[in-house]
Amino acid sequence: MSTGMPATRRQFLGLTTVAGLSLLAGCSAKARPAAGPPSAGGLRLTAAPMRLDLAGREIPTWGYGMVPGPEIRLKAGDVMRVRLENALPEDTTVHWHGLAPPNGMDGVPGVTQDPVTPGDGFTYEFETPIAGSFMYHAHVGMQLDRGLYGPLVVEPRTEELSYDREYTLMLDDWRDGVDAADHAGHGATPETEEPPAAEEVSFGGRAYPLLLVDGRPPEDPRVLEVRPGDRVRLRVMNVAADTGFRFAIAGHRLTVTHTDGMPVESVTVDALRLGMGERYDVLVDAAQSGGAWQVGVQAEGRRGWGRAVLRYTGSEATTAPVAAERPAELDGRLPSYDELLSREPLALPAGEPDRVYDLVLSGTQIGGQSYPDADPLPVAEGERVRLTMRNTSAKWHPMHLHGHHFQVLTPSGRGPVKDTVTVPARGGVVTFDFLATNPGDWLFHCHNHHHMEDGMVRLVRYVDA
Ligand code: C2O
Ligand code: CU
Repeated sequence: MSTGMPATRRQFLGLTTVAGLSLLAGCSAKARPAAGPPSAGGLRLTAAPMRLDLAGREIPTWGYGMVPGPEIRLKAGDVMRVRLENALPEDTTVHWHGLAPPNGMDGVPGVTQDPVTPGDGFTYEFETPIAGSFMYHAHVGMQLDRGLYGPLVVEPRTEELSYDREYTLMLDDWRDGVDAADHAGHGATPETEEPPAAEEVSFGGRAYPLLLVDGRPPEDPRVLEVRPGDRVRLRVMNVAADTGFRFAIAGHRLTVTHTDGMPVESVTVDALRLGMGERYDVLVDAAQSGGAWQVGVQAEGRRGWGRAVLRYTGSEATTAPVAAERPAELDGRLPSYDELLSREPLALPAGEPDRVYDLVLSGTQIGGQSYPDADPLPVAEGERVRLTMRNTSAKWHPMHLHGHHFQVLTPSGRGPVKDTVTVPARGGVVTFDFLATNPGDWLFHCHNHHHMEDGMVRLVRYVDA
């Protein structure tokens, strides 16, 4: 297999990087305001048609110069300033998934800003006080389904975890420029294996011929280099439109430290399940003496297979896992929301919530209504708001709230703080509480983008108490 990144691919990415992202040299120092938080500097994201190399085959898509888009990395308390340029033939915006900016910076066309028209631009600028693993993506129609997404990491001022290296992995389902028939057997679940048994977990139903890990198909995997004894931090992010993923590494266990960027007490598991929009940070001890190990990514509830490779430095000659090799760990222990304990619970006022919503999730509706013909859900600033979701449909729905972090209610009383939570199919119930501290109109929606396009969206609207 091709363990290294072929020169052609490297050059290809190099060129498109220049086109898609310009670090405005020197800007971070010069443009820093005289007082106030330091600025992370000027970044430019150009949304444009581009070509993506999928294992030697170039296909047309839309992206920010590369897929995933360039990583944005700042420190807590920085001001993020990103200039979006729209070189697409249609309107676009960028949403900062998991961040809680002022409403006007949230990137939802027609709700928080006017869409950015072709040839036009928009500057997003706001402080990022909270550290974590986030994502950015286009928020117009199905644009996210193409390559218009990237990782956004806010580092804490002082890192509490100790680790030797870190990697960010974005998991995506892919169909742009790819014909299902062409790729029969490539993106498919390994033939020799049964899909995970137990319950039938399906997040979507559309045909996606490929699963990509960091923009790469199984035939040309990303290689994560480690040394024996290293502790590696992985930021695993599901940016797919229609696919929930199971994630595991052959021969290694995963210690969960964060969900959606927010810290939890460490729990060691074999595998992760990620709904669309969810992220997990895990620590992995590179406790093997060498070799190359499969990082397996399986679509939940349907065929679909992706991978990366974890390779111990010095093991270049070792036979790498074949594309379809399926780590047994995928069927091992998963973390449940109930066992995840927040290390920094929200400062929710004691007592009963000020406002309670109880909403049924059916195929394309939330609480019996389909956006845009849907009433906003009023909240008032300062309130503690409780939202219960009851899923009566046959699909699992990852529900995402813009502009806030919420705390999942679990028997421990210290459930994980998240911004996207998966509600299981056929009777699954999840409740979360949040503090209404960020005025505006905010989207609350299913992160299956087909469901979202079909109207599975409500607005949370701040009103006077
Ligand atoms: Cu990633 Cu409206 O969200
Ligand atoms: Cu859904």
